[in-house]
Amino acid sequence: MDSSGAVGAEHRRAGIRALPPNDPRQYDDLADQWWRPDGAFAMLHWLAAARARLVPPATGPGALLVDVGCGAGLLAPHLHGKGYRHVGVDLVRSALVQAAGHGVEPVVGDATAVPLADGCADVVVAGELLEHVPDLPGTVAGICRILRPGGLLVLDTLNATALSRLLAVRLAELVPGVPRGIHDPALFVDPRELIRLCARHGVRLSVRGVRPTFWRTAGWVVRTATGRSASTVDRPAPRIVPTWSTAVLYQGRGVKQS
Ligand SMILES: C[S@@+](CC[C@H](N)C(=O)[O-])C[C@H]1O[C@@H](n2cnc3c(N)ncnc32)[C@H](O)[C@@H]1O
Repeated sequence: MDSSGAVGAEHRRAGIRALPPNDPRQYDDLADQWWRPDGAFAMLHWLAAARARLVPPATGPGALLVDVGCGAGLLAPHLHGKGYRHVGVDLVRSALVQAAGHGVEPVVGDATAVPLADGCADVVVAGELLEHVPDLPGTVAGICRILRPGGLLVLDTLNATALSRLLAVRLAELVPGVPRGIHDPALFVDPRELIRLCARHGVRLSVRGVRPTFWRTAGWVVRTATGRSASTVDRPAPRIVPTWSTAVLYQGRGVKQS
């Protein structure tokens, strides 16, 4: 991540305080962006839709889905009709307030020490969280702890590769409107390490690469770069689809052994 003075100067011009890369206070400063489909977190909307497709309908009444690092609850609309009680855990209160407005039960907490009981969750979701946590082993332990035996873990994150750093940080941050410094590439996650850590806590994780569809994304980049943001009704949002390589973005899915 470029934490140079140039980034600091640019943020100051935009009226955004200069913060270190991956500082969670950035989410407070960008709070008005969460629910804008063409805003700074546009790609999180596309990823939430893809993540929800990995979550099956609840098998019984009262089934609990815990969304760790839920942000403003962008997953919520994609879970409608699936029958879960949706609890969201996050460090950032301003994001949780918005999540609550979308039907998520908010819990303030750190992923390494989720303030929920062992084995309480039928599904645990960790969307675009793991590339933000300084303590990956502690976070994986925390999310696996709250998963019940037989429960499902669903996640997506960024790989710790040079290609990922190039695309997800250096090139992405050239697009106007994409927040600078939101990622610290040193925290990106090697899927082999993630699989090992999950196995340590009884979750056999399978991973697959995903990517945004090319033409719709290219259209979105052009519209964003030229300031011609269009409604998603006129211009369907890019879809996140499976791809052969996990080198940049990947999803993980695994069941906790009984
Ligand atoms: C990129 S956002 C993803 C939000 C949401 N999952 C989504 O996909 O829309 C990362 C979120 O993780 C939260 N987060 C980062 N570190 C965390 C931690 N240690 N414990 C809990 N939440 C954390 C941030 O506050 C932020 O809301």
